[in-house]
Amino acid sequence: MFTLAHLSDPHLGPLPNVRWRDLASKRAFGYANWRRGRAASLGPASLQALIEDLHRAEPDHIAVTGDLINIGLPAEVDAAKVWLAALGEERDVTVVPGNHDAYLPGAVRRFTEAWAPWMTSDEEAEGTGFPFVRVREPVALVGVSSAVATAPLMATGRIGETQADALAETLDSLGRDDLFRIVLIHHPPIAGSTPWHKRLIGGSRFRRAVASAGAELVLHGHNHVTSVAAIPGRDAPVPVVGATSASLHPHEGRPGGSYLLYRIGRENGVFVCEMEERGAAKPGGPIETLSVQRLQG
Ligand SMILES: [Fe+2]
Ligand SMILES: [Fe+2]
Repeated sequence: MFTLAHLSDPHLGPLPNVRWRDLASKRAFGYANWRRGRAASLGPASLQALIEDLHRAEPDHIAVTGDLINIGLPAEVDAAKVWLAALGEERDVTVVPGNHDAYLPGAVRRFTEAWAPWMTSDEEAEGTGFPFVRVREPVALVGVSSAVATAPLMATGRIGETQADALAETLDSLGRDDLFRIVLIHHPPIAGSTPWHKRLIGGSRFRRAVASAGAELVLHGHNHVTSVAAIPGRDAPVPVVGATSASLHPHEGRPGGSYLLYRIGRENGVFVCEMEERGAAKPGGPIETLSVQRLQG
């Protein structure tokens, strides 16, 4: 049995104190947004409780599907690196970036370097870039980047043709090795699952790659709600699971943050996968099992 833990969108705070004149215009927007919304609805206390529970579950691996930070400040990128190091060993934690990590082009350069130990292929010779592959038998994690800097008030992601083609090739070859292929991407690859300004551009390319080569599971974040859907695969539909923000406080009638555990094994030679969601059922309550469901087999 292989256990993967999945958390997303921690939006680590608080933001370092910044002077307004140090903020480029897009960051000024984002900073004001953070002060108004996220600072109130996200918090380290709930995230810390979830991570302690996650560590008690002793997963074989941890996946983080993006939006580690808020407005791409260098100090945020560096703080997230420290947070990742505390989350687990480099070989046991895999990260893909989100739109908030890529807030401005400079941020992409900075996180690409700082977070490389958690988002590069096993084989150094394969270099950095996306998709990257980390094989932890019987699982193969395939990291895709949908993170691009956008105009103010936009939160779109993008998959280009080159990355989609490489994804299809990678999935095809991992499928021949009989591995349980898990694709990690920040933006949900389901058409119509986000408002227009938050959508994944090139989502149809991603879906074509998965439909032609197949995959066993797709994990994403971005929407700050837990969701289960499916997209066509090569031999069978592929479950697509969205994790909510792990830092979410219960507010405005919405539940607080949670994380997901996937238990992957084989029964009669066929892969099986069960998913458990863990979080607090009520504000301030203990972390407990919120739901269990079979995704595969
Ligand atoms: Fe987010
Ligand atoms: Fe996002």
